[in-house]
Amino acid sequence: MLARKLRGALMDFSKSLQMNERFQLVIPGGAHTYAKGDDQYPEFAFPYMVRGEGCHVWDVDGNEFIEYGMGLRSVTLGHAYKPVVDAAYKQMLKGSNFTRPAAIEIECAEQLLNMIKGAEMVKFGKNGSDATSGAIKLSRAYTGRDMIAICGNHPFFSVDDWFIGTTPMSAGIPEVIQNLTVKFQYNDIETAKKLFQQYSGKIACVILEPEKEDEPKGNFLHELQKLCKENGTVFILDEMITGFRWHNGGAQRVYGIIPDLSTFGKALANGFSVSALVGKREIMQLGGLKHDKERVFLMSLTNGAETHGLAAALETMKIYEREPVVETLWHRGKLLAKKIQKSIDENQLVEYIPILGKPCCLVYGSKDQEKKPSQLFRTLLLQETMKRGIMATSLVVSYSHTDADIDRTVEAFHEAFRIYRKALNEGIEKYLFGRPVKPVWRKFN
Ligand SMILES: Cc1ncc(COP(=O)(O)O)c(C=O)c1O
Repeated sequence: MLARKLRGALMDFSKSLQMNERFQLVIPGGAHTYAKGDDQYPEFAFPYMVRGEGCHVWDVDGNEFIEYGMGLRSVTLGHAYKPVVDAAYKQMLKGSNFTRPAAIEIECAEQLLNMIKGAEMVKFGKNGSDATSGAIKLSRAYTGRDMIAICGNHPFFSVDDWFIGTTPMSAGIPEVIQNLTVKFQYNDIETAKKLFQQYSGKIACVILEPEKEDEPKGNFLHELQKLCKENGTVFILDEMITGFRWHNGGAQRVYGIIPDLSTFGKALANGFSVSALVGKREIMQLGGLKHDKERVFLMSLTNGAETHGLAAALETMKIYEREPVVETLWHRGKLLAKKIQKSIDENQLVEYIPILGKPCCLVYGSKDQEKKPSQLFRTLLLQETMKRGIMATSLVVSYSHTDADIDRTVEAFHEAFRIYRKALNEGIEKYLFGRPVKPVWRKFN
């Protein structure tokens, strides 16, 4: 019999624990996204959610949490953000999907292209993967080449075979597909040069996120773009996470670079399902009607332009333009990082818990006594923060996190850090209840 309460906490997870069996019975992995799976959370704390408002969420047992990295970083404004919900609802009352394009498609397209400098055409999809896989297909058609070079330090680009085939979960993907994707390393231009030498004239495109935890060094992005130009290769920036977070015009605006193609999703519609592939007309128009080359089947989806999703995206983009959303994300993130860092210092954990990334997109590490990354210690942190009402697999803030939310979070982390310190000194077995979390990318359960 599983413990009904997360030990030492006032929280009761009995309804979630009962639901867990039903989830596991009918949904493989008990979740529709691996990053939300039970194996990503401590054993006695995987709540099922019923409601969210701003950065606060409530589970089926009535427990309340302050949430971070909401909706896998798609909800940047806040849960149930009224102006966005109202815009979507109003549009829904007029119909969701027609036999011909809806007028709102051009409004939304023009709004996005006005915000992303240098992007001349756009095609909308539902998931980020629609956009990145669309970019890959288009690059292959444009160049007449098969190979793809991806950044090996970046964890995710698409649910499709060209990317999943490169991960430890490559089961079901033919080797011939796996062999077409090769990897270079971020901030190491020599690794990219080597690929271009080894596969000369074969690489259709290069795809990477503009930035993760490390900043581009030595003009890396521009150097890579130059290399692509010299080799007739399409240069793609995946702005799924950086878009509408680093800057209203994406990280490409921050670093003054205009890629051939770029991809957006997540924050674009504050949690509604909208993604976008944008880029240069010369390439994008291969998916259209105004050329005499071979036709490219580019992102043609039944629900690709679902009107209420686009209404949500349009309203979200307008809010970004008229309110200091990005500035607030950076400001609150900085505040959070500063306060958490102070607590880390006080608990003498500097060498064990690094705070990484840009203030608008913070993550934390967790290391063991040997200063090696540790899933056990990550689980302990999650266990101790969750039982104090903080759901923070990352420290990614939203526009709705207030100073008070930050203070409550820091208090909870401070307590959790005290326990972390004790676990380092006395052994984690005494403090960790249940099995550790596991990385998504593994071959066997
Ligand atoms: C950088 C990046 N690209 C692409 C994707 C794929 O997006 P989606 O899950 O919406 O298909 C993700 C998802 O996490 C991502 O982080």
